Amino acid sequence: NQIKIFSPATVANVSCGFDVLGFCLDTVGDEMIIRKTVEKGIKITKIDGFDLPLETKKNVAGVAALAIYEDAKPDCGFEIEIYKKIKPGSGIGSSSASASGVVFAINELLGKPYNKTQLSDFAMKGEAVASGSEHADNIAPGIFGGFTLVKSNQPLKILELPTPSNLYATLIHPQIEVKTAEARNILPKNIPMQDAITQWSNVGSLVHALHTNDYPLLGEALQDVIVEPHRSKLIPHYNEVKKAAISNGALGSGISGSGPSIFSLSEGIETAKKVEQAIQEVYTKTGIEFYTFTSKIN
Ligand code: HSE
Repeated sequence: NQIKIFSPATVANVSCGFDVLGFCLDTVGDEMIIRKTVEKGIKITKIDGFDLPLETKKNVAGVAALAIYEDAKPDCGFEIEIYKKIKPGSGIGSSSASASGVVFAINELLGKPYNKTQLSDFAMKGEAVASGSEHADNIAPGIFGGFTLVKSNQPLKILELPTPSNLYATLIHPQIEVKTAEARNILPKNIPMQDAITQWSNVGSLVHALHTNDYPLLGEALQDVIVEPHRSKLIPHYNEVKKAAISNGALGSGISGSGPSIFSLSEGIETAKKVEQAIQEVYTKTGIEFYTFTSKIN
């Protein structure tokens, strides 16, 4: 009658795929305990780690839980404990980990009546509370694992992409907060045709690279001419981090979700570790607090 789950951090956008591409990390994530109760309704009883609202309708996990609960109409309620390890506003899918974790867990306790796409749809309702818009690019990799592409939101259609086996992600999280809603507001409403052409050629190349294990092509495709020029201004020393990562062997780097975290992809753990060290050196000099980690994509 109770389940304990690990809900992983995720990287959305993956440079060229704003609001559609994402991948799942396996070393950092939230933990949650979800319990069936006789009393009906959804109740958040504990949030450990960060100061977030316990009130169900104001909490990302609460809203996502209500979405699946109101659809399933079970003859019980659920109580949620959240042990939050992913800092809100860090750019590695903090809100979506809460949302996707809780719907996954409730589905398990109900005997798995829903498929992964339906779970993603419920989780999106929670994510919208945090970011001000419904997008599934963090939710989908959290629920499906690996790389995912959101083909459409309505109806929600998610494609699972293959992950080359020797691919590692290195993340740096500068300890500043970037609110997703604000990072979306600074984006242009219209884009030049030439930029659109560059971007969709990169998205297509990235998908092809994942299917063919073409690491160099994957690196070339990690380019974002639409969003990065605006958002990189919100991230201190962004270009230096990117330069350090690439000159130490990374295939490419970009903003993780809406930032401020920066991700780099590398072929092989040795390169990824070297990249992590080079990035640490850049940030140590700045005096800004940060943490880094390297993870397989899973
Ligand atoms: N695609 C989203 C964005 C991810 O970049 O705004 C963050 O929720």
